[in-house]
Amino acid sequence: MIEQARIGILISGRGSNMIALADAVREGRVPNARVAVVISDQAGAAGLAKARERGIETLVIERRGRPRTEHDREVVDALKERNTDLVCLAGYMRVLSIEFIQAFRGRILNIHPSLLPSFPGLDAQKQASQHGVKWTGCTVHLVDETLDGGRIIAQRTVPVSDDDTVESLSARILEQEHGLYSEALSLVLANLLVESITAKRSDSES
Ligand code: GRF
Repeated sequence: MIEQARIGILISGRGSNMIALADAVREGRVPNARVAVVISDQAGAAGLAKARERGIETLVIERRGRPRTEHDREVVDALKERNTDLVCLAGYMRVLSIEFIQAFRGRILNIHPSLLPSFPGLDAQKQASQHGVKWTGCTVHLVDETLDGGRIIAQRTVPVSDDDTVESLSARILEQEHGLYSEALSLVLANLLVESITAKRSDSES
C-alpha cells in the first residue's frame, strides 16, 4: 500500500455512519484516504442519495434471494475492480461469507452500537436497556468469522439513564458512533501504512 487508501463502504439503510465517514475523509480528518464506492444491498437505502450528493460512486447489488456466497462474490468483485484497500460496514445488515472475509482479511471494519463483547447481534441498544446496564456505548472492530467478535479497535462509552427509552439511548449512542468510526479508521490506516513501509524495507534489505 498505499499512497491514498481507497475505502469501500457497505450500507443497507439510512447511512448516517457512512456520511460521517465520507465527511471526515473529505475534510482531511482521515488523512490519505478517499471513499472509492458506496455499495448497498437494498435499492431503497436512503444513504445512497446522500452519497451521490457528495459525488461518491454508488452501486446497488441486491441479494434477491441468491445464495450468500454468490451475492458476496459480486460485491467483492466490485470492490476489487475499484482497488479497494479497506472495507467499512456501516449499518450493513448482512453477515459476510467466509469468502468475503478471506478476500479482505484484516481489512474489514464494522461499527456496533454496544460495548462489545456485550450485546452482539441485533437490537444491541434494546438488549442493553433490558439488562439494566448503567453504561453502554459503541465499538469499531475488525470483522472475522464470529458474530461481532473480531478484534476491537476503538470504543466510546455512553451512560444509560433511568428515563432512557431505546430510542433516546440509540440516538445518544449514534452521536458517538459518528465520531468514533473515523477515529478508528484513521488508526487502522496508520497501522497499514506502517506495515507496508516495514514490508518494503525488509524487501529491499533481502
Ligand atoms: C448503527 O447503529 C450501527 O452501529 C449499526 O447499524 C446502525 C446503522 O445506522 N451497525 P446508519 O445506517 O449508519 O445510520
